[in-house]
Amino acid sequence: MAFYTNEQWVQWLDRLAEQEFAVIDSFLPDEVLASVRAVLREQQLQQQWQPAKVGSATEEVRVAEIRSDFTYWLDIYRDTAARPFFDLVGELMEQLGQQLFLSVRGFEFHLAKYPTGGFYKPHLDQFDSRSNRVISFVVYLNEHWQVGDGGELRIHRAPEPITVAPLMNRAVLFRSDTVLHEVLPASAVRYSLTGWLLKQPSSLGVLGL
Ligand code: OGA
Ligand code: MN
Repeated sequence: MAFYTNEQWVQWLDRLAEQEFAVIDSFLPDEVLASVRAVLREQQLQQQWQPAKVGSATEEVRVAEIRSDFTYWLDIYRDTAARPFFDLVGELMEQLGQQLFLSVRGFEFHLAKYPTGGFYKPHLDQFDSRSNRVISFVVYLNEHWQVGDGGELRIHRAPEPITVAPLMNRAVLFRSDTVLHEVLPASAVRYSLTGWLLKQPSSLGVLGL
């Protein structure tokens, strides 16, 4: 059973193809959002957050200058509460194939927590050592976010950068290889579910990926 119609997916994915990013408000259906929030709640109890890493960099000092968030990588088998979310990711992958002829082989997702003062300097999500990330996918989980809380996603585009507030259930999809972006310093704790769709080594879709 599909979460969304083909027409709905076409509308979103056309935007992604044209602009290289798409912001979608109220993206997760209720039961999917509930599943993600359950996993986040569990993590707020378990506190298994790890300091985030940058690519395969081993120089910890440099990493601290680039990003200061904490992550918890989801495991589809261990984090069974997230199953409805992974079902939706499966539908997204199928639609990327059908609509954009993009063949994605897998995915990886983590919860991210930016403490007060947390940031992520401008970067691409594809690094030299890890070039299999095709599409980045973020869902924000900040129920009471307000102006002044910071932590906006800034997408660097000409002529003007685009600033995206990390509002509850707002999703952003963007190309991992071309879209320069950053997370502005947070003035309040900021949560998201962030992940990447990974490409089939031999694929070539309409995005040229
Ligand atoms: C990332 C990232 C953006 C965001 O984790 O690579 O850029 O808005 N996240 O959380
Ligand atoms: Mn990023």
